[in-house]
Amino acid sequence: MSFEYTPWQRTADSANLLDSNGTPRITIFEEITALANKHQAVNLGQGFPDTEGPEEIRKIAVDAILNGANQYAPGSGILDLRNAVCEHQLRFYDLPLDPLTQVVISTGATEALAASILAFVEPQDEVVTFEPYYDSYAAMIGLANACHRVVQLRLPDFQPDIEQLRATVNDKTRVIIVNNPHNPTGSILSDEVLQEVINLAHQHDCVIISDEVYEHLRFGTRHTPIASLPGGFERTITISSAGKSFSFTGWKVGWASGPEPLITAVRTVKQFLTYSSGPAFQPAVAEALRLPEEFFTGFAHQLGHAGELLAAGLENAGIPVYRPQGTYFLVADVAQLGYEDATEIARIMPEQLGVAAIPMSVFVHEENRTAYSSLLRFAFCKKEEVIVQAVHRLQGLGALQR
Ligand SMILES: Cc1ncc(COP(=O)(O)O)c(C=O)c1O
Repeated sequence: MSFEYTPWQRTADSANLLDSNGTPRITIFEEITALANKHQAVNLGQGFPDTEGPEEIRKIAVDAILNGANQYAPGSGILDLRNAVCEHQLRFYDLPLDPLTQVVISTGATEALAASILAFVEPQDEVVTFEPYYDSYAAMIGLANACHRVVQLRLPDFQPDIEQLRATVNDKTRVIIVNNPHNPTGSILSDEVLQEVINLAHQHDCVIISDEVYEHLRFGTRHTPIASLPGGFERTITISSAGKSFSFTGWKVGWASGPEPLITAVRTVKQFLTYSSGPAFQPAVAEALRLPEEFFTGFAHQLGHAGELLAAGLENAGIPVYRPQGTYFLVADVAQLGYEDATEIARIMPEQLGVAAIPMSVFVHEENRTAYSSLLRFAFCKKEEVIVQAVHRLQGLGALQR
């Protein structure tokens, strides 16, 4: 049997993980995290929070385990959580949903994304994403043996050029993936862009997969799901997760919602990926989704404050930043320090400065790297004292000038 270019290699290759010999290399995330651990650096590379989600919600999961929620959950997820997703979509976005046919619970947003892509994308189909993109999109598009086309988000506000969007989506496009608010840039797509995505999806008969895991992490604005815009609902699978909104990234409870035909397709694939997971976490997440408005605004406010501290600290060190409108990521430009490729400074920062960050170029196609190569992504979902310590250390950035 030949192992020359099998699907796993294609998947790794799509996510830029194969070296020139076709051997998988470790990701830059693993490399930077290892350096951060070795040098006891503040790790602002990986986007995981260093605080726990609400205690009353964690207790529900503990009680559920003690009270027998330990066997397979239903394939669509427990009804209470599907009901809670519907209540949430109605409460925040005025989007009515049927919990029996229009919602499916998944193993994190990641599984919902994978199932959605595998449900609709045939080999050689085109899938359009904005660039930079969350790395799992590229890997899944590779696994589906499809063609990943990108539309660049442009500085300074990381919005796409509408003409480029129109030129990229065509009759071969099967799926358009939208991530809003956007990882890694922290930007929020304008309603004009979202409406154009909807128009193009209608024009070229595409499915929209909308990754809204950062829906509640916005600084001063309310979230607009693409499904709530005219013509959006009927074409969109909306995906979210408990990881970001409630700081339960390890629970891996996500969900997809949308019109029945699309959700039936996602559920059909999803049942052969994991079937179901997290029976004890699901009732807890149901109650998390029912938390009062102040929980969501309070958390966003706290994060916004951390982001502002970091942005001001970087600016004080002479580094230009692109202030995020949402998520917990901030983009800084190290070109002035003489680094055309931010990967170089990202590799020395843990040791020489005691702070770790991720180069933006890992989130883009190899051939498009130059446009983003001097940018670094910092995650600020950390305690205030951790950000303050990072800011203090970042004041030494000037010493890394070339
Ligand atoms: C844009 C985006 N989508 C999806 C995910 C994964 O979500 P989950 O952990 O719920 O699978 C992440 C996690 O970093 C993300 O940033």
